[in-house]
Formats: sequence, structure tokens, C-alpha cells
Amino acid sequence: MHEKNTLEYLNRQIELAKKGGGDDKIEAQHKKGKLTARERIELLLDRDSFQELGMLVSHRSRDFGLDKQTFLGDGVVTGYGTVNGRLVYVFSQDFTVLGGSLSEAHAEKIVKIMDLAIKNGAPMIGLNDSGGARIQEGVVSLGGYADIFYRNTLASGVIPQISAILGPCAGGAVYSPAITDFNIMVEHSSYMFVTGPNVVKTVTHEEVSSEDLGGASAHSIKSGVAHFSAPNEVDAIEKIKKLLSYLPQNCEENAPDLPYEAGNDIREELNNVVPENPNTPYDIKDVICKIVDSKSFLEVNKDFAENIVVGFARLAGKSIGIVANQPAFLAGVLDIHSSKKAARFVRFCDAFNIPLLVFVDVPGFLPGTDQEWNAIITNGAKLLYAFSEATVPRISLITRKAYGGAYDVMNSKHIGADLNFAWPSAEIAVMGAKGATEIIFKKEIQEAANPEEMLAMKEEEYKDRFANPYAAAARGYIDEIIEPQFTRQRLIRGFKMLENKVGNLPKKKHGNIPL
Ligand code: HXC
Repeated sequence: MHEKNTLEYLNRQIELAKKGGGDDKIEAQHKKGKLTARERIELLLDRDSFQELGMLVSHRSRDFGLDKQTFLGDGVVTGYGTVNGRLVYVFSQDFTVLGGSLSEAHAEKIVKIMDLAIKNGAPMIGLNDSGGARIQEGVVSLGGYADIFYRNTLASGVIPQISAILGPCAGGAVYSPAITDFNIMVEHSSYMFVTGPNVVKTVTHEEVSSEDLGGASAHSIKSGVAHFSAPNEVDAIEKIKKLLSYLPQNCEENAPDLPYEAGNDIREELNNVVPENPNTPYDIKDVICKIVDSKSFLEVNKDFAENIVVGFARLAGKSIGIVANQPAFLAGVLDIHSSKKAARFVRFCDAFNIPLLVFVDVPGFLPGTDQEWNAIITNGAKLLYAFSEATVPRISLITRKAYGGAYDVMNSKHIGADLNFAWPSAEIAVMGAKGATEIIFKKEIQEAANPEEMLAMKEEEYKDRFANPYAAAARGYIDEIIEPQFTRQRLIRGFKMLENKVGNLPKKKHGNIPL
């Protein structure tokens, strides 16, 4: 028998492939506090569930010394397995092989499992750790990236796509994570940028470190590119697993239910959450956590645009998406960042059949030249469009303020919400009482013997008429004014009632969301 036909030869090849770039490189990876591609997969997937594909693929290029070395697997480990018993596809870039750089063959391996993930309807998880396009291969590696971007786009809205950034991710390489649904970054060992510190210095004369320019905190707090950040890789991978638990496998399915034992759904403490003074802040996350199943709230984009809160939770065991104005941050005002953050989240939930629960306490849109010149018009419209287009079950609860255009935008009845509730503390009007009375009673106030007294009187009159939920309830824009303590019960009933909702949009190729 020829040597290559023996089991020994096969086993030697497998051992070689498993070593990636070799022991020295593995040690160097560990010294940086990073795990290897295979260790990461082991942490992610259920024990013994990983089935590798393309282990023996190697590069084809013969330029710039590549003819003298061969690495089985070519810098990326690809395959499928299960997370908590559910199928996922995964690629994990191997920095020990030529810095995890992306060659033609490396890209083909990723493309192969992306195609399988799309055809078989299961989430795609990318563990990124790469020096970018393999410089020796030139345009074929650029082509390889584009092949991946194209599939990221085709897969968008079909299967959930999650990217973990566990090392460098620079240049055009960032555009694959950018198209995927969620990015998770590890603090101090990962970065993402279109151009690195050296180019930045040459072009703009700014001196900035990689970490400051594109580290986990920059993208969690400043840009919002990172939906989650983690102190280490183990935690990052745990976050991926947790996130998956709220998601369906694909757009044709619903997220799995968790077993749930019905109990007492009355939450008396909610009756005292909203402060007496309408200008006193309170934390909407306290409200969310008192309503949803215990410890089930997973916040997304926690440190970015904190004036809006988005995330997944469970209500009576069922997965829901939550969007909530945050009165404890900038009074919960809607601005460019918060509108974009919430709009993308709403579209994700709608694409994957996750019902939406919306908490409203919003004084309006943020005024100012900065907002106007950076297109709050277009960006605010994103959220309006995203809600209007969403066909999943949608329930709103106005806890306090719902003023101006923001009332319409925040999942109002008029843009397709299925159930609209308000607490007695709700104020639903075109604008706040003071501003409104100063405009409509300008003449009376100016001509009054005591203008201040007149203003106060008219303000009271206005508040009595509009700064409450009754005018909206009288018109049916609010379906029920509920005592806060019964909120959980009403929401569980509401979502149950909406379980079989069929929502259809007019036939079209696709809409034109104001991007
Ligand atoms: C080929 C690469 C490589 C690359 C790293 N290596 N990046 N080989 N192509 N892009 C190799 C190194 O030569 C080295 O090989 C090994 O990987 C480890 O790299 P080091 O530099 O020793 O590691 P480290 O100090 O940790 O630095 C990592 C790094 C740096 C910051 C990623 O290697 C780097 O700056 N690389 C180039 C990044 C880059 O400019 N890429 C192109 C971006 S543009 P040996 O044999 O010595 O171990 C791009 C366009 C995509 O990607 C376009 C899509 C449209």
C-alpha cells in the first residue's frame, strides 16, 4: 500500500493541521492572553459536536516565499456543531498561520460553510483574528473578502450572523462584521478600524493608539459598532451562547421557548416607579427587569446611545425584543445615535420573528445644529420606518411622556402597533405644557395684568386637557390605561393573543429605508 493510503499518514496529516502555525506560534498566541482558533471552537460548541470541513485545504500561491511553506487548513478552521443542542456553522481564524491572513483558499473555506449555513438555515458565527488580506496573494485575497461580504449580505435576514472580534480586524476586513447582526469585542486584545494609527497620523496628524482608535471600548461607547464587549475571550464566547438562546435558527422559525411555570404576575412595586415630579428621572431598566422573567434581560449596545435601551428578554418563557426610552439619560430624548441603534435592533427582531415590546417615556427629538446638520431628519426617520415596516407582534406601553413626533415614532397605534397601553402617569401631547401655553396663549399672557399668573393658569388648563392618557384613550389610540402593577399580566396576555399574527406588507422588491 502506498504510504499516502495508510491510516498513519492520515493521522499525521490531522496532527499537522491541528498544530496550525506550530508550537512556537501557539505559545506566542497564549502569551498575548489569546486562545487558539481550535480552543475557541471548543469553548463555543457542545462537547464533541464539532465537525470540521476543509482541514487539509492549503494555499495555492507560489509568490513571495509561499512556495516554501504549507499550512494545512490555511489559517482558518471551519465547520459545524451545536450550541446547547442547536446547529450552528462556525469559522475561526488561526492567527498562528501567517497572522490568520485571508488567502484565496482561506476565503473559499469560509464561503463554503456560509453557503451551507444559508441553505440549511442555521446561524453563522465568525471568530475573527486576522492580519487582513494575505499580502503575498494580492487581488485574489481582495476577491475572497468580497465573496464573503456578498454572502454576508445574502444571508442577512435569513440566518442570524454573529461576529466575535478576538484580535486584529483592519481595512476592508471590517466590512464582514459590519454587515453581520452582532459584533462582540474583547477588551484590550481586539481592534477594528478601516485605517490604522499610522495612516491616521499621516492623513489627519492625529496621534492615537490602536486601542483608543478601534478597541472594544471605542466601539462600545463611541461608535456603537460593537454590540457587546467582554473582559476576556471566555466571557465573549459565553455571550455568544447566551445571545443565541434568544434567537431562532432562521427567518422561517420562531425562537425557542423556555419552560415557564405560571406564577404571580402582579408587581406592586411598579405602582411607585414613576416619580411625582415629571422631570425627575428614573431608570427604565428597573421597570424592564420588574416586568420580564427574572434575570432574562440581555442588553444590546449597553454603553452606546444610552438614552435608548434595547435588548432581548423573556416573557412567560418566550423571547421578546425590547426598545425603551431611558429617562435616566438625557431625559430619554431621541437623537441620531439612539434612533439608529433602535432602528437596527427593530429590524433584526422583525427579520427573525421576535415580538417587540416598547416602553415610551420620551420628551421629543433633540434640538440643535449638531443634530440637524448631521441629519436627525434622515436618522430619526430610520426608526419610524423600522417600526412602520415591522410585522411581528408589537406592544407599546407609555409610562410617562410621549411628546411630539416622538409619540408617533415610538411604536404608536398609527404606525401599526397591535396593542397600546399607558400608565395613568402618561402625558401624550404635541409638546410640554409650558411651551404649548406660551405659544397658543401668547396674546392672553402678554395682555394679562399678571402674566405669570395667567401662564400658570393656562398651563394647568393645558395639563388637564392633554398631560394625561385620557384624550388618547378616548380616541382608542390607547387600548387600555393600566395600573402599573398589572403590566406583566397584560403583556403576557397581549403577546399570547398576538401569537398567530399575520402581517403583510404591500408587494414590492424592497423598500427604500432612509439610510
Ligand atoms: C500576510 C501576514 C499578514 C498579512 C500578518 N502576517 N499580517 N502575512 N499577510 N496581511 C504575518 C506576519 O508576516 C507574521 O508572519 C505573522 O503574520 C504574525 O504577524 P506579526 O506582525 O508578527 O504579529 P503582530 O506583531 O501581532 O502584528 C499583527 C498585525 C501585523 C498588526 C496584524 O502583522 C500587521 O500590521 N499586518 C498587516 C496588516 C495589514 O496591513 N493587512 C492588510 C490590511 S488591508 P511570521 O512568518 O513572521 O510569523 C486589507 C484589505 C482587505 O485587509 C480588503 C477587503 C476589501
